[in-house]
Amino acid sequence: MTQDHVGHADIAHFAQDRVNLPKEKADEYRAQARRLREKLEGYLSEHPDFTLKKMLLAGSLAKGTALRSLNDIDVACYISGADAPHDVTALLTYLAERLRKAFPNFSPDQVQPQTYSVTVSFRGSGLDVDVVPILYDGDLNWYGNLISQDDGSFLETNIPLHLEFIRKRKRVQPDHFAQVVRLIKYWAARMKSANEEFRFKSFMIELILARLCDQGLDFSDYPKALQHFFTYIAKSDLREKIFFVDNYAASAVGTFNHRVQIIDPVNGANNVSRLYTDKDADAIVEVALDAGDAIDAALYAPTKQETVYYWQKVFGNSFAA
Ligand SMILES: Nc1ncnc2c1ncn2[C@@H]1O[C@H](COP(=O)(O)OP(=O)(O)OP(=O)(O)O)[C@@H](O)[C@H]1O
Ligand SMILES: [Mg+2]
Repeated sequence: MTQDHVGHADIAHFAQDRVNLPKEKADEYRAQARRLREKLEGYLSEHPDFTLKKMLLAGSLAKGTALRSLNDIDVACYISGADAPHDVTALLTYLAERLRKAFPNFSPDQVQPQTYSVTVSFRGSGLDVDVVPILYDGDLNWYGNLISQDDGSFLETNIPLHLEFIRKRKRVQPDHFAQVVRLIKYWAARMKSANEEFRFKSFMIELILARLCDQGLDFSDYPKALQHFFTYIAKSDLREKIFFVDNYAASAVGTFNHRVQIIDPVNGANNVSRLYTDKDADAIVEVALDAGDAIDAALYAPTKQETVYYWQKVFGNSFAA
């Protein structure tokens, strides 16, 4: 086995050039989200009874796992549950109306309800901000009911604790944990563009990698870490329950009959992968097997040209070393 032709450093370069969101962009988008949050804070200081209580950067920009292809900024908005509608469509209309009130310098058409979120569009520069409602009852730790972006159901969860969960793994393996997440997300995005039915949620990828991180996998050798991830998917056949005891005892983990069981690290009753059918899971296992085989072949290929050919099966034709 050799990394003579394509090694860790080549994968790291490829990630810098093609996969990662450049730092200046990430800073710019985070600043954009911060300005919105501060606007809401300003409005709240003058209207303390206002029902939108807080905005929080969520998703990949907050976790440092965003790809270059990022196309919106995820922001969670806490709404006090007592007065807000609990029907999703009505709740989104309500959220849009409240956001227009808090952001009077935005024209009303810049704030638009979508299926499960409200988009705030910035004229000219920046990305759209996707505001996702969380109904909450003043919980001190910011637990609340997040509207699922997959099916509009309410998920009892905790965004700040999710961010801390990921931060913890990033501290164990600085740079490398987040980099391997982004590389796998990039691979998954390619699989999606080849097959529109393919799905593999970013949060599931992160949680699987967190499991491998907790088991002691060294992420600092990218070819090996990637190979390990694909081997794990193939060997487990996505039938192994994954849960974490950071925020609850193992005894608090629910019993599920779903094929894929990747449990929310902040709520043992929430299976993050509950919407994944056997067909979805089998499709992931199949492409993971292909990717694992391609990396194996790359590590044994006798020439650089052949090695690159195999890595392109994983990362596409823009991969060049
Ligand atoms: N099923 C779920 N249960 C609880 N929280 C969830 C669930 N799905 C998503 N989240 C929350 O939403 C955040 C965003 O996750 P998601 O997988 O949608 O995308 P992302 O990390 O923003 O990545 P990208 O947008 O680059 O694909 C997660 O970090 C988590 O806090
Ligand atoms: Mg996102």
